[in-house]
Amino acid sequence: MSGNDVHVNSALEAANMLVHRWPVIVAATFSIVLFTGAILLRPIVIQRAIDDGLIGGDRQTLLIATIVFGALALSVYVFQAASTYTTAWLGQRFMRDLRVRLFSHYQRLSMSFFDRENSGRLVSRMTADMNALTDVLNNGFLIVIQSALILLGTVIIMFALSWQLSLVTLVIFPPLLIGTAMFRIYSARAYEVVRDRIADVLIHMQETFAGMRVVKAYGREPYNMERFGAINEDNFEANIRTVRISSMYIPLIEWLGGFGIGIILYFGGRWVIGDAVTVGTVAAFIFYLDFIFQPIQRLSQVYDMLQSALAALNKIFSLLAVEPELRDPERPLDLAGPRRGAIEFDRVTFGYDPGRPVLHEVSFQIEPGQRVALVGATGAGKSTIAKLALRFYDPTSGRILLDSRDLRDLRFADLRSVVTLVPQEGFLFSGTIRENILFGRPDASEEDVIRSCRVLGIHEFIQALPDGYDTAVSYRGSRLSAGEKQLVSLARAFLADPPVLILDEATSSLDPHTEALVEDAMARLYADRTTIVVAHRLSTAEHADRVLVIDDGRLVEDGHHRELVRREGAYAALYGKWAPEPASSDVA
Ligand SMILES: Nc1ncnc2c1ncn2[C@@H]1O[C@H](COP(=O)(O)OP(=O)(O)O)[C@@H](O)[C@H]1O
Ligand SMILES: [Mg+2]
Repeated sequence: MSGNDVHVNSALEAANMLVHRWPVIVAATFSIVLFTGAILLRPIVIQRAIDDGLIGGDRQTLLIATIVFGALALSVYVFQAASTYTTAWLGQRFMRDLRVRLFSHYQRLSMSFFDRENSGRLVSRMTADMNALTDVLNNGFLIVIQSALILLGTVIIMFALSWQLSLVTLVIFPPLLIGTAMFRIYSARAYEVVRDRIADVLIHMQETFAGMRVVKAYGREPYNMERFGAINEDNFEANIRTVRISSMYIPLIEWLGGFGIGIILYFGGRWVIGDAVTVGTVAAFIFYLDFIFQPIQRLSQVYDMLQSALAALNKIFSLLAVEPELRDPERPLDLAGPRRGAIEFDRVTFGYDPGRPVLHEVSFQIEPGQRVALVGATGAGKSTIAKLALRFYDPTSGRILLDSRDLRDLRFADLRSVVTLVPQEGFLFSGTIRENILFGRPDASEEDVIRSCRVLGIHEFIQALPDGYDTAVSYRGSRLSAGEKQLVSLARAFLADPPVLILDEATSSLDPHTEALVEDAMARLYADRTTIVVAHRLSTAEHADRVLVIDDGRLVEDGHHRELVRREGAYAALYGKWAPEPASSDVA
């Protein structure tokens, strides 16, 4: 089945991530083998103590057996500690590496992936699925390996001690295995039903509380009581089922255990009398019987744990298998000479879903240093143009050129050092204001940071904050207003000093006063660089060198503000709507 292949692949991938830790794996294996070995040897020592010590009347042997027993107990202690620690260490390292791998993979993926995926699911790969793995890695593996070793070792030792007694003892094997497997299957199903029924009870209660006004107004209490009674009854039935299953299984195990001892006593006893086995062997067998029961029960317990861990592993590795849609070219071109910042769209057609284009054959050329305003109704495709210029996506057809180089031939790092985007919402990462500004150019000096803020006219504002540049902010930027956040993100862009700057409605969520401040700051940002401003107020367009009007994914007008107003086309219509009340109405 292909599902199983995926499981196998995920398991192999996981194993692949662990092989380089082989010294620890060897140490873990070594300590598990010694730990289980010491446990397995204990009944043998008891056998010797009985046969040679008690029955043979040899105090010396008894003393030695006691010392050996003590030594075994000590090694169980030491090697159990070592195996618990080393396996958990391996598990935690694995988890740490996997988290890093997943996180860096997330960052490599293209924007289109994040458009599709819901961020809650991406986070749950990191949390819930990782937790499912933790359980197994911390002790599940240890239980599996150790139980398997004990089971195997016990059977081998039993046969070595007395194959006849082994054969008769092992008749309990089939009922034990079948009973345990059936218990596992039935109880898993029963517990699933219980979970559903508990959810039903909760849903009904919540609904009743939420609708309490309606319940009271219509005197619905008796009906609700009746329904609750029925749901509660179902819940009771579901729980009783699990009780019934356990009450059959647990006594079965007890009974099988007793039955096993009975068999050993009966046949062992007869063979002791017939001198075929020793008393010590019979005693050892009774101990070994436990070594058959315990591992089987523990293995059945971790089975579910392993199942959910494998499912989690699968989800994680299938996510890791998603290839980034956009990557650095095989043979990248260098951006020649000084970076000038000429942008050209050459018959660019693009759709987030390639079947439904949102841009149609858009062509324009922007000279270095030009200040261009991009205007148009909401949904026209302005932000899409901005995102394409940063190569968040590739055009479906056509080309986008930066200084005559196709964006697809450039390294992402080179492109990013030339083109910067300031999005609509000023986004701050958790840290200090200084850190958030330095993000634009991490190697900038303190003077550079302050100079950027001075030029933008926000130095005084930042200094007035409780801790100045060291004021802590979070990604929600809780301590700063939307406008203040936007000012900080403009300072970040200014410090980065890119030849091409794209501002996507960077002022649309601001109050008029802050907006004036930001507009002012932006005017200083425009100097000496190519700027594309997605303008939400046409005052920006009035001051631009050139206005591009986008309508329904098409470039419909291109020219200077005055020229376009005179033309009485799409722009003039937009401007007409906007101009009467410039302070309050939106272009949209
Ligand atoms: N991530 C996305 N996935 C799918 N469709 C999108 C996405 N972003 C924008 N769109 C669609 O593309 C069109 C253009 O959107 P956009 O460029 O954001 O317009 P504008 O910035 O001019 O308001 C709209 O129809 C919008 O619904
Ligand atoms: Mg937009």
